[in-house]
Amino acid sequence: MRQEGTAATASIFGWASPVGRGKSRGMKIPALCCAFLAAVLTAQTARAEKEPDTELGKQMEAMGKAFKEIRKETDPVKGAALARDAENALVKCLAETPKVLEKTPAAEKPKAVANYRTMIGELFVTFSKIEEAYLANDLEKVKTLAETAKGEKKDGHEKYTEKDKK
Ligand code: HEM
Repeated sequence: MRQEGTAATASIFGWASPVGRGKSRGMKIPALCCAFLAAVLTAQTARAEKEPDTELGKQMEAMGKAFKEIRKETDPVKGAALARDAENALVKCLAETPKVLEKTPAAEKPKAVANYRTMIGELFVTFSKIEEAYLANDLEKVKTLAETAKGEKKDGHEKYTEKDKK
């Protein structure tokens, strides 16, 4: 039993062992290198997909998730529920201020914050209309309104996100 364990451990590291000697020994180092590389790549991917670091980012992500599903959803009840998810996230976005506005001079800030809130409000109206269109089973209208939301996203991100985060 103990001998088996020692042989297995030695075999993992590719050391000489009475059991593991032979062709397989030469394969251990490349296999370990591949495992190490895979671990490094996995860690990098996890970092790239990290959680949003602001409450606004979190709500945007929730809204984005609902929006993605809306673009595939044809069921009126499920679609309306997704639109409501987006609306609820947008209500929470209204209470937040974009990070880029931290650097805005005090004299210009109220205007910028009011404009941000107007744009979020407009997007809310678009999602309410998407909800209504689903409930009327008007999928063509859902599609048109989804394009409107896409444009509103582009405008909002151009104005209020850091340029390298788009
Ligand atoms: C369909 C419309 C939209 C979608 C799907 C969307 C989605 C997203 C996503 C996925 C993020 C990244 C979250 C993260 O990982 O941090 C984000 C960030 C952001 N979005 Fe949107 N967005 C939309 C519309 C808008 C609009 C209209 C505005 C502004 C009026 C806006 C302002 C921002 C800001 C400021 C950030 C950065 C978060 C921060 O400052 O902390 N977005 N959005």
